Amino acid sequence: MGQIGPDAGNDSEERGPRGYDEVNQAQKPGYFGWPLFVGGNYAYAKYDFETKTVGAKADVNKPMNTSPNNTGKTELPPVSPPFVWYPYAESPDFPLVKTGGRNAMAGPVYYSENFKGKAEAFPDYFDGKLLMYDWMRNWMRLVTMNEKGAIMDIEPFMDNIQFNNTIDMAYGPDGKLYTLEYGTKWFAQNMDARLSRIDYNGGNRPPQAELKANKVSGAIPLAVNFSAGESSDPDGDAVTYELEIKDEVLKATATNFSYTFDKPGIYHPKLIATDSKGAKSTTEVTIIAGNEPPVIDVTVSGNPDYFLPGGSIDYKISVTDKEDGSTTDGKIAAGRVLTTLDFHPQGYDVTKIAQGHQRSELPGKLLITESDCKSCHLTDEKSAGPSFRDVAKHYAKDVKATEVLSNKIMNGGSGVWGEIAMAAHPQLSKEQTDTNGRIYSFLAREEKIKVYHLLGRQTLRLCHLRAPLQLQRMCLLLRMKIMAPMACLRYQPQNKFSLKHRSSMQIMRPT
Ligand code: HEC
Repeated sequence: MGQIGPDAGNDSEERGPRGYDEVNQAQKPGYFGWPLFVGGNYAYAKYDFETKTVGAKADVNKPMNTSPNNTGKTELPPVSPPFVWYPYAESPDFPLVKTGGRNAMAGPVYYSENFKGKAEAFPDYFDGKLLMYDWMRNWMRLVTMNEKGAIMDIEPFMDNIQFNNTIDMAYGPDGKLYTLEYGTKWFAQNMDARLSRIDYNGGNRPPQAELKANKVSGAIPLAVNFSAGESSDPDGDAVTYELEIKDEVLKATATNFSYTFDKPGIYHPKLIATDSKGAKSTTEVTIIAGNEPPVIDVTVSGNPDYFLPGGSIDYKISVTDKEDGSTTDGKIAAGRVLTTLDFHPQGYDVTKIAQGHQRSELPGKLLITESDCKSCHLTDEKSAGPSFRDVAKHYAKDVKATEVLSNKIMNGGSGVWGEIAMAAHPQLSKEQTDTNGRIYSFLAREEKIKVYHLLGRQTLRLCHLRAPLQLQRMCLLLRMKIMAPMACLRYQPQNKFSLKHRSSMQIMRPT
């Protein structure tokens, strides 16, 4: 059985342990510890709410229920040993459970003998193994036990598949696994809620189609080279490729195709990979023909590589577009370009960005995508927690917002937006949560971005008359003496915002 523990993110020396979720195993009737113990049977201290005094910690060998409301036994049976337990932060005992919001769930144990003669049932490998899963963290783990029920091994199960908050699962009479997903938003009619059947495919597995194009947009005639070379087959079968563009089907030379688009439009070339046993998979890319990406030029006067904290820089931006004119000839109005400037105290590895290993995202945004935040927060809509845009609006004028929100993200809590509690995130550092404060001020300011703010972000956006293209140009400035921190100018095409051809910006230290 899964057991959800309390929210405390940190241990308290006086009162007892931080919160843990548990998966417990009842081989016989027993006392599983709550509310005197949690996790690996860590003891809580008795607390007198009237006098606000902390008493002695509970004794694992002799747990006592001294509640005035207790009508049963005072001396409880010894606490049953815990099975799996984990806090918000990294678990030293079960590293595979990851970190973040938690919601431990116990799934079924598979018994081969129940599915004898069912050709498509799960294989005997699963016999006697427990599936445990976490509703928030979206993982499933297969637990191997010995004949006494002790854990021998925990391994990931379907780790490469994105589940949207699995809330129940069972093996069907056919020996296949059925899962119910709640969906991403809390208390909503989730479009991504679903019932899935998980089949074991012991035979041939289909290939994995991957399609790369050397260009995804440009003026017509647009000649594009496609490659299916990164496709693979999990069984190592020979794979053949076809590329479908509109009504044409191209055959590959080795794994390559070339095609010239001579009519403007948005195309979705589809790669069909077929293995030697006939199993297929497909993938698509989007090609925008008839629209050359704009060229964005940023010049910074003075030293283009370094700046001194407290100084200012002059910069000039020009945008030239093959189809739409340029900012110099006035055909692209300044109002269609948005500039943002951001400070990245942790620095950027430019080579990694170019190779795609490090995203040039704002650090706060990265943190949100890589942590568990999205299971309770969406950018524009309310979920379990408020939308990030609402948070941004709420704190737009609050100078202490970064501090307040940073603490809230680390410690959790409720009452500002409603009754539901925000999970604590002790695994995040102060520096990480601080950057989050900035993302909110960015969201709030997005619509009136004319206020140039160094700790905000300046983006140059440009909208084409035809299919819109996005382009970013970055220019990195290193802070003098200290190499790691960098300021970064980023530009993205969009239409609402204004371009300043020349302006001065104050360079500030990060807060
Ligand atoms: C278990 C669900 C859950 C998770 C996970 C979660 N939040 Fe929240 N969050 C909430 C709820 C509920 C509230 C409203 C709390 C309140 O009313 O005080 C909230 C509030 C907030 C607020 C506003 C705080 C305030 O006091 O106004 C911020 C900022 C925030 N969350 C950021 C984050 C970030 C960043 C993450 C990921 C690192 C995250 N949350 C993960 C549920 C969650």
